[in-house]
Amino acid sequence: MIGDLVAFLLVYSCALASAGQTPFFLTRDPVLSPHVDAFISGILAEWNTPGGVSVAVVQKHGDGTWSVETKGYGNASADGRQMTEDSLFFIASNSKLFNIAATGLLISNESLSRRISWDTKIASIVPEWELKDPIASSQSTITDVMSHRTGLPRHDLMYGRTDNVTSILKRLRHLEPSAEFRDIYQYNNNMYMLLSYLPELLLPHKPSFARYVKEHIFEPLGLTSTTYSLDVAQASGNLVQGMARDGINKTENIFGRGTPRAMWHPNWFLSGGEDGNYKAGAGGVISSAKDAATWLQALLEDGRNPVTNESVIPPYVIEKVATGKTVQTGYAFVPILSHDVL
Ligand SMILES: *[C@@H]1O[C@H](CO)[C@@H](O)[C@H](O)[C@H]1NC(C)=O
Ligand SMILES: *[C@@H]1O[C@H](CO)[C@@H](O)[C@H](O)[C@H]1NC(C)=O
Ligand SMILES: *[C@@H]1O[C@H](CO)[C@@H](O)[C@H](O)[C@H]1NC(C)=O
Ligand SMILES: *[C@@H]1O[C@H](CO)[C@@H](O)[C@H](O)[C@H]1NC(C)=O
Ligand SMILES: *[C@@H]1O[C@H](CO)[C@@H](O)[C@H](O)[C@H]1NC(C)=O
Repeated sequence: MIGDLVAFLLVYSCALASAGQTPFFLTRDPVLSPHVDAFISGILAEWNTPGGVSVAVVQKHGDGTWSVETKGYGNASADGRQMTEDSLFFIASNSKLFNIAATGLLISNESLSRRISWDTKIASIVPEWELKDPIASSQSTITDVMSHRTGLPRHDLMYGRTDNVTSILKRLRHLEPSAEFRDIYQYNNNMYMLLSYLPELLLPHKPSFARYVKEHIFEPLGLTSTTYSLDVAQASGNLVQGMARDGINKTENIFGRGTPRAMWHPNWFLSGGEDGNYKAGAGGVISSAKDAATWLQALLEDGRNPVTNESVIPPYVIEKVATGKTVQTGYAFVPILSHDVL
């Protein structure tokens, strides 16, 4: 688990650095130099991890060309498979960005018989929708549910193995809010399950959310290894394993080496193949550093395929999903990432 978490912190923190405006980064020298390779390998060794990380760095140069670097470090499985740029990770809640980009595609779809907007009230489009707080229930818009401000706290223990999106939606009305509508930020996965219901609800051919995203985002952007399907990821031979360490004395050294043991995949109990399952919208994407690089380029190119320059996600959708709505904490959670330091 820690292995997975660190991988994505590294992938995304490097990505953020390269997206910055600092001219220092806009060189043709590789960012993943032998020096950086040694630094990353040093961290893996220092943490005694049996696992590894993969990293993607993208840089756009002044003449419009790109440098793209992707690499794997350490091991991807308990039996010693090497981490590579193609290793596939569960990207967990980074999946939410694909969900709201897909919502933006529905909003921009001019051939929908019932057009929707960011301000469309959920109550007007989702028959199963009802919240205990009557104001939140009638007033919540797509922007509100995207922005974690309905007043409902996580309530993540209310769903289980046999659920589906509609069974979960029908339960929301019984859950206690813990804040007033639009008052504060309270992270909520259920609202991203709700958003993942929209393609099926609004399109005449009722595609599953996972197929909709595959057809309209993964494929046109060239995210060829990215999938919502555990079966597809496993068949590729590239799926990484979360790893636990057995037999360490936690009092002595919580980062002791121990004996590596492969762990269950998150959501191992959910199937659905390429149709996905109820967790797809909140956290179902499985992807690689190579595809993460393409996704980052597409985001920095206003939603265009970085190779063909074809527009896949309209620029105003990219702008909307990249614009803050709710303040999570008013100060930098990690001081080194604060505005003053950057
Ligand atoms: C990684 O796997 C190799 C075998 O491919 C093994 O020799 C090595 O000890 C593993 N590294 C760690 C840190 O477990
Ligand atoms: C737009 O809507 C039409 C039908 O109304 C549907 O066939 C098409 O797949 C939709 N496209 C997107 C990107 O939502
Ligand atoms: C969703 O789950 C409920 C409760 O388990 C079940 O009654 C319903 O048939 C399921 N719906 C779908 C579409 O599978
Ligand atoms: C773990 O380490 C502590 C501190 O060295 C020691 O007191 C304890 O007996 C050890 N526990 C086991 C189960 O070995
Ligand atoms: C890509 O498309 C955008 C928007 O149409 C355009 O401004 C840009 O010049 C194009 N870039 C290339 C390299 O063709």
